[in-house]
Amino acid sequence: MIKLNINLEERSYPIYITTDYASIGKSIASARLQGKLVVITDTNVDRCQFDTFMDSLTQAGYKAEKYVIEAGETSKNLETVKDIYKFLIGLKLDRNAALIALGGGVVGDITGFVAATFLRGIHFIQVPTTLLAQADSSVGGKVGVDFEGSKNIIGAFYQPKFVYINVNSLKTLPVREIQAGLAEIVKHGVIRDAEFYEYIDYNIKKIFDFEENVLQYMAKVNCSIKGNVVEEDEKESDLRAILNFGHTIGHAIESVFGFELLHGECVSLGMVGAFKMAEYLEMVDEDTVKRVIKTLKNIGLPVKLERMDVDKVYNQMFYDKKIKDNKLTFILPKGIGEVIQCSIQDEELIKRVLHDLV
Ligand code: GLY
Repeated sequence: MIKLNINLEERSYPIYITTDYASIGKSIASARLQGKLVVITDTNVDRCQFDTFMDSLTQAGYKAEKYVIEAGETSKNLETVKDIYKFLIGLKLDRNAALIALGGGVVGDITGFVAATFLRGIHFIQVPTTLLAQADSSVGGKVGVDFEGSKNIIGAFYQPKFVYINVNSLKTLPVREIQAGLAEIVKHGVIRDAEFYEYIDYNIKKIFDFEENVLQYMAKVNCSIKGNVVEEDEKESDLRAILNFGHTIGHAIESVFGFELLHGECVSLGMVGAFKMAEYLEMVDEDTVKRVIKTLKNIGLPVKLERMDVDKVYNQMFYDKKIKDNKLTFILPKGIGEVIQCSIQDEELIKRVLHDLV
């Protein structure tokens, strides 16, 4: 088992990277969690993985209650939160209780939000089962829900007691979900670590073949890149914004296309847009842009979206929660491995980039 630490003073926590659920009990004991446990999961994970997870908990001498939400982004709202609160009230939990988020980003974000607010804060554990959640959303403490069409607009920064990544949980996922998760991993290489980017590019086939050593190494480097950024700027006052690479355009596409495209697919398109913009601003050369596009295509991610309405996506960009004084901020590459934040107000340039994606 690999162990990484996220160092955030009294909110510090370990990330365990492993190939099964056998050590979940030991991890709970190490975190000194002694109260009631409640597993929050979704209908997909309940079908494919819950029993294996629960068997490991039982073998370690733990009991847990279970609450299942409907799988999918449409569940990530205050109604679901309200239903979970009612369930937890029925269990008469106290502040020693811990919620276990067993699932993807939706389960992790909702569970973390409930944990942050129920009884003014109870413990929570992230057990991410999708690549997107293992690569990004389970690390760093961003929790929350969507509200009236805006993604993650209600939320908090609330760190888990630990993150437990079983890389073999990815085997139950559709290929499209793996591809989407890889977008965030490529993103982490591009923003901070050229060597890691090369590693991913070189090992795409092995990732899709679920080679355990590759998956574990990928999770380790990926989580340490993200963890280091979070350690430097937990609440996104500055540096953490680089994690939004590909998201300025990506989030707008995601909002316009509703729930038709996966988050990672939108980030892929957003990263292509950011590279094209950097090329027009002479920050990167054409070969680098072609290289990244090739990597994304090899993974099976979209690099163009023919049915995209450029004006609609452009206008949607101004509804992002990260916008300041109505100015768009882009995270732009200076090459592979380094990015900078730029405020861009040149409508013509932005629309030129969006047209490149069509
Ligand atoms: N997914 C971006 C962040 O955690 O800050």
